[in-house]
Amino acid sequence: MAQPFSEHPYLTGHHQPMRFEAVAPDLIVEGELPDDLNGVFYRTGSEPLYDPPEGYHWFDGDGMVYGFYFEDGRVSMRNKWVRTEKFEAELSAGKRLFGVFGDPATSDPSVQGMRYNTGNTNIILHNGKLMALMEGCPAIEMDPRSLDTRDYLDYGGTITGPFSAHPTVDLSTGEMMSYGWMINGPAGKPEVRYEVIDKDGAVTNQFQFEAPYMSMIHTVLATENWVVVPFNPLEVSLERAMKGGPMNAWAKGRNSRFALFPRHGNADDIRWLEMPGRHMFHELNAWEEDGQLIADVAAANGTALFPNDDGTMNTHGDTTLELRRWTIDLTGSTDAIKEETLNDKDIQFPRPDDRFMTRKSRHSYANSNLNSADGRVDGMDSVIHFDTQSGKEDIFHFGDGAGCGEFVFAPRTGSTDEADGYAMTLVHPANSHHTELAIFHATDVAAGPVARVIIPYRIPSGFHCNYYSADGALAEPIFA
Ligand SMILES: [Fe+2]
Repeated sequence: MAQPFSEHPYLTGHHQPMRFEAVAPDLIVEGELPDDLNGVFYRTGSEPLYDPPEGYHWFDGDGMVYGFYFEDGRVSMRNKWVRTEKFEAELSAGKRLFGVFGDPATSDPSVQGMRYNTGNTNIILHNGKLMALMEGCPAIEMDPRSLDTRDYLDYGGTITGPFSAHPTVDLSTGEMMSYGWMINGPAGKPEVRYEVIDKDGAVTNQFQFEAPYMSMIHTVLATENWVVVPFNPLEVSLERAMKGGPMNAWAKGRNSRFALFPRHGNADDIRWLEMPGRHMFHELNAWEEDGQLIADVAAANGTALFPNDDGTMNTHGDTTLELRRWTIDLTGSTDAIKEETLNDKDIQFPRPDDRFMTRKSRHSYANSNLNSADGRVDGMDSVIHFDTQSGKEDIFHFGDGAGCGEFVFAPRTGSTDEADGYAMTLVHPANSHHTELAIFHATDVAAGPVARVIIPYRIPSGFHCNYYSADGALAEPIFA
């Protein structure tokens, strides 16, 4: 029998798990649903089936995927858990069996040796396959329509270990640049595996290299020809955990390191660069320009997501992520990385018009925080569209106490120009029992939503969202 959940900042308020799967046809829409919006909006997040007895971390819940399908002027929704071995074993036992992050020291003997996987971090479509992703495990395929869990995707046996939760897809070529970290386990050599997977699912480049330390990485910066794997000083240390310290901690004073190499290069091509320690899990975009690699990223000088290695904790206010531009010289005349702040609003997930990923872009979309004391716990209360070229801010505030998720661009059917379309986010208004999928004109966010899709219950806060247009190559198999 399931027990009530503990009092925990990430198990209450906007985050409180709902624990059910639903099908909702033809949802009520307030305003006017644009008739040139056809596609699917996916959202995943951490929604634990059972209360964890040994404590909890925001990233530790079972993955729950929501799909909103826009077709013929209507929108329908369904949501399902990612049915991992962990989920099935715990459902069968009627209780949580794994320790936090699968820590074997606090896991039930019945799951020793079983793969800890939640599939809760990202939900992307590539080669017609819907992939539920979590750092540390192979991708899990789900049916893009029914959201039924299928099996692990191993690309013909070439990827059987950890796979990125944040691969970069270049829509100009259909190539996906990905990686796996901790491929030798937390006690093994800190090696990273890099790969390019083409639009048909063939692995066209793959190699391994040694990381400077066991760093928690969450993205690759990719341009048309180059890739950067960033290593944050977020260190994973089994040794520290054995001594009673945190397994994941911010290593104060340590530099961030960057492995730069050609997209289709190999380990011998790597050029190492560094800068003072930065927390960077999400880029807006990266591209090449005049012999330089430009990367617009959400970065901070530390993090409150994990403790520091000296046992202290940062606050959200000390470590807000802002939009910064890193410039890397590709000619090799300098190894210094130039850093400038483009916008200092507290943001969570910056997103471009995905069609321009790896190519020069100027429009950015992000969920942001204007008035919350802690945007991660209390909710990101606003969305921002920011033009990195003109510096123009375009902001909408959902009201104090609201919590909104990743703000993603959705192209207008048939459009090709950057930012020609809409942008949408799931928002839980303050003190309400419902959720809205708020849809904005992509270049006039301040005007407020043109349509609000009403979900008549609260959808708990989540992680990544992605929108796939019905007339885009990636979504064709769903809407054909
Ligand atoms: Fe992420």
